[in-house]
Amino acid sequence: MIIDIITIFPEFFDTFLSTSIIKRAIQEKQVEIRLHQIRDYSHNKHRNIDDTPYGGGVGMLMTFPPFYDVIKKLRTEDSLVIYLSPQGKLFKQSIAKKLAKKSHLILLCGHYEGIDARVESLIDMELSIGDYVLTGGEIPAMIVADAVTRLLPGVIHEDSSEEDSLQNGWLKFPQYTKPETYEGHTVPPLLLSGHHQKIADWRKEQQIRRTYTKRPDLIRSIKMDEEEKAILTRIKAEKKQK
Ligand SMILES: C[S@@+](CC[C@H](N)C(=O)[O-])C[C@H]1O[C@@H](n2cnc3c(N)ncnc32)[C@H](O)[C@@H]1O
Repeated sequence: MIIDIITIFPEFFDTFLSTSIIKRAIQEKQVEIRLHQIRDYSHNKHRNIDDTPYGGGVGMLMTFPPFYDVIKKLRTEDSLVIYLSPQGKLFKQSIAKKLAKKSHLILLCGHYEGIDARVESLIDMELSIGDYVLTGGEIPAMIVADAVTRLLPGVIHEDSSEEDSLQNGWLKFPQYTKPETYEGHTVPPLLLSGHHQKIADWRKEQQIRRTYTKRPDLIRSIKMDEEEKAILTRIKAEKKQK
């Protein structure tokens, strides 16, 4: 996959691209992440890319022509052009899964007051990372690029991403590592038993219990099998009794 990121601050991405799993995915050519300085597409000698909004108002707006030109240059028939914006659809794991199947993403980062609204006629998708306003689209672009890259084949162990929270709707079961006991805090004994089926059953129940307790809003959109429905019914009954 190729991810093109259009930004006025490419330096935001230095650590992101040179650290940990993303660094390795780039080195192993599982993803190519290319940064494009939007000033390189400025139409004036001062390399300005922002101006005051028509109709008045505070702040500066990023101008349309540089975005038009860079999209025209980079877009192919396989591209998906995404504008990171607080007005977009909420970015979720289900969207990350869909994006991971594409071969080319172009991510547009706004800054200041955002981008001239004509950019909306050029994009395929507008994504928000949450209901709050950030100073720029660089952190949202990193979030999208990170969530998508870790789903690409070979980047992390596929069993690991399959079990991740939200990947199939449920939150992940709790996990523990050494030491077994510390200052009276112990690991659930079943996990030390070596009994694989019992551990798998316990983990399934924990996933459902955690999701019901921490994120009940997620449950509505999960397609449950009969076993999961039965576990959830039991957990709900238990909670009522308390
Ligand atoms: C200060 S914001 C502009 C907000 C815009 N004036 C508005 O009220 O909708 C500047 C840029 O940050 C990015 N941004 C801010 N919050 C975001 C969010 N929650 N999700 C994605 N991008 C965001 C966008 O690229 C946006 O163009």
